[in-house]
Amino acid sequence: MRRVLVTGGAGYIGSHTCLELLNAGFEITVVDNLSNSTEESLQRVSTLTGKEIAFVEVDLQDVRGLDTVFSKGDFETVIHFAALKAVGESVSQPLQYYQNNVTGTINLCQAMQSHGVTDLVFSSSATVYGLPKILPLTEQSETLIHEVTNPYGRTKLMVEFVLKDWQRACPEMNIALLRYFNPVGAHVSGQIGEDPSGLPNNLLPYVSQVAVGKLEKLGVFGDDYETSDGTGVRDYIHVVDLAVGHVLAVKKLSEKPGVVTYNLGTGIGYSVFQIIAAFEEASGRKIPFEILPRRTGDIAACYADPSLAKLELGWTANRGIQEMCVDGWRWQSNNPNGYAS
Ligand code: NAD
Ligand code: WQD
Repeated sequence: MRRVLVTGGAGYIGSHTCLELLNAGFEITVVDNLSNSTEESLQRVSTLTGKEIAFVEVDLQDVRGLDTVFSKGDFETVIHFAALKAVGESVSQPLQYYQNNVTGTINLCQAMQSHGVTDLVFSSSATVYGLPKILPLTEQSETLIHEVTNPYGRTKLMVEFVLKDWQRACPEMNIALLRYFNPVGAHVSGQIGEDPSGLPNNLLPYVSQVAVGKLEKLGVFGDDYETSDGTGVRDYIHVVDLAVGHVLAVKKLSEKPGVVTYNLGTGIGYSVFQIIAAFEEASGRKIPFEILPRRTGDIAACYADPSLAKLELGWTANRGIQEMCVDGWRWQSNNPNGYAS
């Protein structure tokens, strides 16, 4: 089995995927500029698996550096996680987001092309569906660039178009576009997990930091949506289930399918209040909260129809909301300051 190159492999989803790839017998090289991660995550993955990870600190803007990585490796597949992902920051720094996420991907594709690497798995997002008109969302649901609610989301949809055009021009390419819903939780060991810098943007990291006592209370962004209890509903997916989905996508590409697109979600939506209750049960801690106005750009509800991934990858999300919260809490309580603790 030849090597898999993992861009952004030191990050949250990347580190969990590295672990699953190693356990599945793949050899891996990680490139990451460590702009939102630390090498400690990879050291812990090595310890957990007893296997080595080749790590190169490279920025995807560094065309020469990338070329050197490809010259030294014999890669069959690339899994491309490396991106900036803070929605609010993308509104204030759009050029940085388009440069990093879109140009970075094009640099990667060019390096793949010059070194004859044909298989690519791309981290897309449910955000490409914009404002859902019909739920659950299938891969056929509309993706309209002007309806995506922020520049970060538009970088994901733009890259999807870039990759489809590339594959049309180069039919030997095989590309899996994986649209993640809301990844949460952590590896069962409590050794690796999500380590946001600064104030968390997403619900679960915020709730865990309230539970551990680092933050005083959660702000609930709106309780007047047309949902069962008025709070926003999302399809939370355990990060280990998501990581396993990548291993199956890598295997799928060896069938030479051209471009394939899969929703990776559970198909079940939970409200903010349901998440608070599940996390209180998992942690045995009270989560104080206050109701705040709606957050700009938020949608009422979003959840997947994940049946295509089941049919074509043989993938289903096996871990439920309680396991997501228990595993997330184990990581947070063992590592109150993330990898720095
Ligand atoms: P993360 O920030 O933890 O991981 C991204 C990694 O990429 C980091 O280690 C960062 O240092 C690295 N990186 C960023 N720009 C780089 C560059 N120019 N060169 C080299 N390395 C670079 O984020 P994550 O949550 O693990 O997300 C991984 C991917 O999944 C991203 O593409 C993200 O957009 C996508 N995604 C994430 C979510 C989510 O909620 N976490 C949902 C949907 C899609
Ligand atoms: C979930 C729910 C909030 C924080 C974002 C990106 C998306 C994707 C995943 C990468 C919503 C509510 C949240 C808080 C709250 N990322 N909430 N208080 O908005 O579904 O998706 O992350 O691709 O692109 O937009 O996730 O975790 O931010 O919010 O009440 O402090 O929790 O309003 O209903 P979201 P989230």
